[in-house]
Amino acid sequence: MFLVTGATGSIGRRVVRILREQSMPVRTFVRLTSRYGDLETRGAEIFIGDLRQDKDIQKACRGVQYIISAHGSDGDAQALDYRANIELIDQAKENGVQHFVFISVLGAARGYEDAPTFKAKQAVEKYLQASGLNYTILRPSGLASNLLPLAEQFRQTGLYLLNGDPKNRTSIVSTDDLAQIAVDSVSLEGARNQIFAVGGPDILKREDIPRIFGRIFNREPIVINAPLFVFDGIRNTVGLLNPQAKNSLGTLRTLLGNEFFCTAEEIARLQMTYNIKMESLESFLRRYLGL
Ligand SMILES: NC(=O)c1ccc[n+]([C@@H]2O[C@H](COP(=O)([O-])OP(=O)(O)OC[C@H]3O[C@@H](n4cnc5c(N)ncnc54)[C@H](OP(=O)(O)O)[C@@H]3O)[C@@H](O)[C@H]2O)c1
Repeated sequence: MFLVTGATGSIGRRVVRILREQSMPVRTFVRLTSRYGDLETRGAEIFIGDLRQDKDIQKACRGVQYIISAHGSDGDAQALDYRANIELIDQAKENGVQHFVFISVLGAARGYEDAPTFKAKQAVEKYLQASGLNYTILRPSGLASNLLPLAEQFRQTGLYLLNGDPKNRTSIVSTDDLAQIAVDSVSLEGARNQIFAVGGPDILKREDIPRIFGRIFNREPIVINAPLFVFDGIRNTVGLLNPQAKNSLGTLRTLLGNEFFCTAEEIARLQMTYNIKMESLESFLRRYLGL
């Protein structure tokens, strides 16, 4: 039995789909408010709970052999990126889980102080490595599926809002490839107790994204480039009213202000270990947009 957290999220939903296509038994950890109807239709077991509650995690982990942790932080890195994963790891040990797959983030080990999610991911990675469990830690760069709503917006308006330095590099990864890699991690010898940077085949500059949209929709992009001080100004104003929100925005500030790309060697290692050819951003978008 697999336990998938974040099963209604961008990665988790795809993980469940792949597992069910292989007829694997899957328990999905979902909230009562989540949209989980399609998971049920696919034949996944639905476990309703809240990852903020240790007792829910304890119940969900009973009798599982594999855990794929793919939930998000919902604005509370301490409770969800950190505490919930620590409890999942403890329960994995308690239940003799055979393999734990943790979706971390590219740059988790860089020690970003102002980014609660990055700090939590780094602490969880260390905890998992010291746990004695078999594990695979995946550190993805940005997900291609995040760009689908922006592409739809571009289709209507031709506009693209680019925050920060247009020359910053990124390795946006196909969310389908990432889900496949997460599933394959539990059975591949070469993935056991390893950490992988997970990115697409191309190192893109941020300014390449509107160009790709332009090619796909055959439309000249109008790029609005907002410098980072605009974001910082908004963040500081928010902080006057809500210091907790300002703190949470540190993760986004870190994402906007830094480069997150995989080296050619990292992609080669990934492709070789998982016997996969990583899909380009343009191919992913064309596939989903039907173009
Ligand atoms: N998105 C990216 O570009 C990116 C890049 C690198 C790494 N990652 C990492 O990948 C993981 C998944 O990201 P994603 O973009 O696929 O996530 P997502 O689409 O934002 O989905 C988040 C998931 O977590 C669930 N969740 C949130 N709070 C919960 C709670 N209290 N109890 C139970 N479930 C809860 C959500 O359930 P509901 O449906 O109920 O909201 C949803 O299924 C995250 O750990 C993220 O840090 C993401």
